[in-house]
Amino acid sequence: MSADSLQWGGRFHSAPDPALLAFGSSFDDDLLLARFDLQTSQAHVRALRGGGTIPPEIFEALVAALDRIAEEIEDGTFTAWARNEAFEDIHGAIDARVREIEDVAGRWLHAGRSRNDQIATTLALYAASRARDGLARTTSIARALASRARLALEKESVLAGTTHGQPAQPILLAFWLQAAAEPFVRSARRFAALAREAMEAMPLGSGALAGSCIPLDRTAAARYLGFARPSRNALDAVGTRDVLFACADAWATSCVPAARVAAEIVTWASPLFGYVRVGDASASGSSLMPQKRNPDIFELVRAGTQRALSDARAAWAASAAVPLSYHRDLQECKQSAIAAIERADSILTAFAHAFADIEFDVERMERYATAGYTLATDHADALVRGGLDARRAHRLVGERVAIAEAQERAFDASDLQALGEHLGVPALFAPLDARASVLAKVTDGSTSPEAVARALDALECELSECEASV
Ligand code: ARG
Repeated sequence: MSADSLQWGGRFHSAPDPALLAFGSSFDDDLLLARFDLQTSQAHVRALRGGGTIPPEIFEALVAALDRIAEEIEDGTFTAWARNEAFEDIHGAIDARVREIEDVAGRWLHAGRSRNDQIATTLALYAASRARDGLARTTSIARALASRARLALEKESVLAGTTHGQPAQPILLAFWLQAAAEPFVRSARRFAALAREAMEAMPLGSGALAGSCIPLDRTAAARYLGFARPSRNALDAVGTRDVLFACADAWATSCVPAARVAAEIVTWASPLFGYVRVGDASASGSSLMPQKRNPDIFELVRAGTQRALSDARAAWAASAAVPLSYHRDLQECKQSAIAAIERADSILTAFAHAFADIEFDVERMERYATAGYTLATDHADALVRGGLDARRAHRLVGERVAIAEAQERAFDASDLQALGEHLGVPALFAPLDARASVLAKVTDGSTSPEAVARALDALECELSECEASV
């Protein structure tokens, strides 16, 4: 890194230590911010022009140079050039390239601007763009899960729903898939709100912390970038990264439902369970055990989520130690937040691919849907509907479970008969198979086929509303 590539240095007597400059460089992480930083510069040039600070010919030359750099960023030549020069950050790199293209005009680019308001604006643009990407990603995962739910609903495929990992009550596979989809709808809603929030207040024109003595048309700049308005406190604007961190949170927390589904798939993919077959394209083998077929991608989704969460947490935590205004700590926070977002994106992409590649063994699910006395609650409910109090119903059915278990058999007509006696009827009317159990559910949001069909309609409506709100 040469001292020439820095945007400062006049008051120093000797060059900075190259090793320390390299330590302080955020250039590699900044590369994915390049196109947003360029937009920020285009906006600043408009603010300078609008404020009457630069004449038309300087304005035109700067716009043209920035346009050219945009092409160079697209085709990769800018990155190659900047890597060669080694810069402290993306701001210095773009500034240097502008001066290389337009020596005279280039010297005006940074007038009235600090890297502090520049990076804050660039990060807001990045956060808005990544929030929109997050909205698209979570919407598409929710839709994929919902359309698989619709297929499973046609067949009314059932399985033993669990709590504590133990057989609990029969549920529709469609209901399970809908449950997997719902958190992604909530994520989509959060991303939509964030995409709007990120474009609320534009930091550009805040200078280093106090604003500028150079007239800047901040409204024109905000309009150019698509912000609702310029920020209203320069000190806050340069020192705050909360929308970026909220975006990192939204991405990392969107991986949590993927990780939880992945955890279930890992269990279900075991031949000991056999509910799921992971496709060849997403399974891995063992270097030693020839028979193995491992659900590695789902395991990586599970563990990767923890990394994304801790990167997002690290961003908030490091910023909590920083007083108001810009401090270089915010560069580290930026890197943690970007790491969380980019990692979460790759996790959700892999999850979506791998999930599309699994097959459910619905016969096997159905075979075990009533194992472990999953109909017991339906029997107790039937007694309560017949007029027995809930405590007594629970106890009586519990006793029948103990009897059937001792006889090593499932619930059958003999249990219905014995329970019927307590209501003074020949036999209790209650489901004796899993499909009858789900059909007997009467509440909204339940696992009954009608409730699931209604819920899927509502879920898809909400996704479209989220998309339309941005
Ligand atoms: N690379 C810095 C960051 O990411 C840009 C702002 C630098 N500002 C400064 N005063 N050193 O935060």
